[in-house]
Amino acid sequence: MNTADSGESVVALVPAAGRGVRLGANMPKAFVEVGGSPMVRLAVEGLLASGAVDRIIVMVPADLVESAVALLPGSSVSPADAVQVVVGGAERTDSVRAGIAAAPDAAYFLVHDAARALTPPRLIAEVAAELRAGHAAVVPALPVVDTIKAVDGSGTVTGTPDRAGLRAIQTPQGFAADLLRAAYAADVAATDDAGLVELLGARVRTVPGDPMAFKITTALDLTLAETLAARLDLIAPLS
Ligand code: CTP
Ligand code: MG
Repeated sequence: MNTADSGESVVALVPAAGRGVRLGANMPKAFVEVGGSPMVRLAVEGLLASGAVDRIIVMVPADLVESAVALLPGSSVSPADAVQVVVGGAERTDSVRAGIAAAPDAAYFLVHDAARALTPPRLIAEVAAELRAGHAAVVPALPVVDTIKAVDGSGTVTGTPDRAGLRAIQTPQGFAADLLRAAYAADVAATDDAGLVELLGARVRTVPGDPMAFKITTALDLTLAETLAARLDLIAPLS
């Protein structure tokens, strides 16, 4: 899988244990199909196609471990296999923590949401390359297109940060393994792994994100993803 020379292992952690409340499908979101493939399979295929990862650990709901193994080619519940399925947790943070615990040998982690099912392999390879170049934390970032306002509890605007200095952050997020382990050693919760690393005072490097790495969160996002998936030329590199 990993075509780089270095023997230091890059382990991808794929949080896929969410319930998908905002999508509102009748199954956990990562198992919802886009273009005929479950999101979690598309995400794993993208990681494999990047050529940048040695091992993939997928965190799923406890009752869907067998289903996940069945739909991820070459996977099992054993750490001996290149794609390992483990049980996630109640919050995303818990799921990532479960993945970290399953990879004591990792030198680098790429944490990549199953819900970013159409992420181009090229972006994954770029984050991994920046890690190997010595940056301990690397995240894809896109300029924000909307004006962002801060509001108080009653919804009244309290400020307008300068948009030029704001970025929307995607996955995969890459980390030196020891840094991510340290960030998760504390009992904290976050929607973003880099946020935990920032709390330790580490520098987080950005690389240009990709619109195709958008997170499928709502029904509108799923419609967009289905439309894109119907353009086979767009997802061909994933398969
Ligand atoms: N995730 C996870 N474990 C959780 C919660 C989320 O592994 N306890 C994963 C999701 O499966 C998803 C990714 O984290 O791939 C990003 O989370 P999000 O988009 O919020 O997905 P859900 O939590 O499933 O959706 P919602 O918040 O709408 O319920
Ligand atoms: Mg969620």
